Amino acid sequence: MHILVLNGPNLNLLGIRETAIYGTKSHKDLVTFLKAVGKRHGIKTTVRQSNHEGRLIDWLHETLGERYDGVVLNAGAYSHTSYALQDAVKALDVPVVSVHLSAISEREPFRRHDIVADACLATFSGQGFTSYEQAILRIKETMSHER
Ligand code: DQA
Repeated sequence: MHILVLNGPNLNLLGIRETAIYGTKSHKDLVTFLKAVGKRHGIKTTVRQSNHEGRLIDWLHETLGERYDGVVLNAGAYSHTSYALQDAVKALDVPVVSVHLSAISEREPFRRHDIVADACLATFSGQGFTSYEQAILRIKETMSHER
């Protein structure tokens, strides 16, 4: 099983930006964590980060007919604004799970609705890196039911 993990804008600044909310660990630490999670569960993970909406959309499109079994998506602030990302998720034929490090439902009103998640299989938030692990396990569980 091969899962694509996509991180959106400002997530390259993990460990530097708003550490009281997002923690002191870096994006590199997140990649290391995801590789370890993948190894533990027999899943290959490819992790990508971009600050650009179109780049994220192109990467989502690449999963069409390609090698991935699912996508874990932290669209950052695009989660609350991007109908283009929502449309891209709707076009895919693999499960997409939305994640957030922080508890978006307990933050500012504009963060409370994740419009990209409306097109996703599930959402995990508020658990830091563990949100990603839960998303990976949800995709694995979904795939095992489909077999
Ligand atoms: C975030 C939450 C978003 O509201 C915010 O814009 C981010 C990070 C999270 O992981 O908690 O950039 O997606």
